[in-house]
Amino acid sequence: MSLEPLLASRRVILVVGSGGVGKTTTTAALGLAAAVRGKRVLCLTIDPARRLANSLGLKAMTTEAQTVDAQRFSEAGLHVAGSLTVMMLDTKSTFDELVHRYASSPQARDRILHNRLYQYVSTSLAGTHEYMAMEKLHAVKTNGLFDLILLDTPPTTNALDFLDAPQRLVDALDSAAMRWFIEAFQESGKLSFNILAKSAAIVLKGIGKLTGGDFLEQVAQFVTDLNDLFGGFKERAQEVARTLRAPDVAYVLVTSPSPMAIQEVLFFSERLEEQGMPRDALVVNRLHVAPSGTTSVEAARQAIQSLGLILDEDAPERLTLALEDERRQAQLDGAHLLRLEEALARSSKAPLRIHVPALPYDVHDLRTLAEVAHILVP
Ligand SMILES: Nc1ncnc2c1ncn2[C@@H]1O[C@H](COP(=O)(O)OP(=O)(O)OP(=O)(O)O)[C@@H](O)[C@H]1O
Ligand SMILES: [Mg+2]
Repeated sequence: MSLEPLLASRRVILVVGSGGVGKTTTTAALGLAAAVRGKRVLCLTIDPARRLANSLGLKAMTTEAQTVDAQRFSEAGLHVAGSLTVMMLDTKSTFDELVHRYASSPQARDRILHNRLYQYVSTSLAGTHEYMAMEKLHAVKTNGLFDLILLDTPPTTNALDFLDAPQRLVDALDSAAMRWFIEAFQESGKLSFNILAKSAAIVLKGIGKLTGGDFLEQVAQFVTDLNDLFGGFKERAQEVARTLRAPDVAYVLVTSPSPMAIQEVLFFSERLEEQGMPRDALVVNRLHVAPSGTTSVEAARQAIQSLGLILDEDAPERLTLALEDERRQAQLDGAHLLRLEEALARSSKAPLRIHVPALPYDVHDLRTLAEVAHILVP
């Protein structure tokens, strides 16, 4: 099993899964594999992924694109024909770019960007993060600088957040409450507290912290300006939504063998299927592998002693327990995996499965990342 065909044929790969299952690791490993094969790769991440940044020789993940130094690769014994660039998504600056692009006039643009509410809306409105990730993806896909873009998505608490994001944001801006608010403001140029209390309160839920004499007018002006922006914005959101469904986009699902993670990945997989979207691959990460029958306590003891290490008296007992534990864990993982396979067997076109063993160490440098890359793309 290999993800090679995906790397060769797609322009965008979205890596999805629940928290902590190995999305960032998978994204980076796939990026490395593609770069080795000559692609100019961009990995977009949503979190600072400090350890990953360090392992690539970067001080920190930043919202500026950073290309990994070729020397780092050669130091790790890797021959990389292409390039690997990483960038952290920044919701606010992406939103700012949209405002720049779609505001009807420089005045309207500045009014929006300087409005106190904008700070809130551009960073905290439900769905903004997901939408802006998609927006950025769309933007870099069209700029031609990269052959392959990998998106490390946030954990899918609601697995559909991503797919729905463009539409949800449009719906939020186009909601009855918003429209009513705009009309109420446009008639008089002012809003009374009465009006606010009646219905626009829905819009303002959660921003009660903001107070001040001109607060209502600020809100109304902002919503009106935003609405002005909305025509272009709505079209853009539809374009972004189309990007998500394009044939050159692949979805790689990641899960651990834990029942919770499996349940979530199956849920997401089913939603993708319902929407007629591809589920190209499913990576089962950190799978425990039973120590082979020949792994005995005696062999382990000898191996440890050959390293010049001195064993405690109770070492054989502890080694026995550790081996048993490993076997038990592998058995459990196997049982969970079986349930996953049964569920997948019921779907029409099951994704390609790849198993990545639980490595005895963290994936923290280029060498270990290359190890994972080699399992995904042998
Ligand atoms: N196959 C593996 N073997 C051993 N360690 C692994 C493996 N895959 C990932 N890890 C380690 O597990 C931790 C979590 O992995 P990672 O950060 O990729 O998960 P994530 O899904 O991106 O998490 P989050 O949802 O928090 O963003 C990391 O420390 C990583 O090095
Ligand atoms: Mg991550």
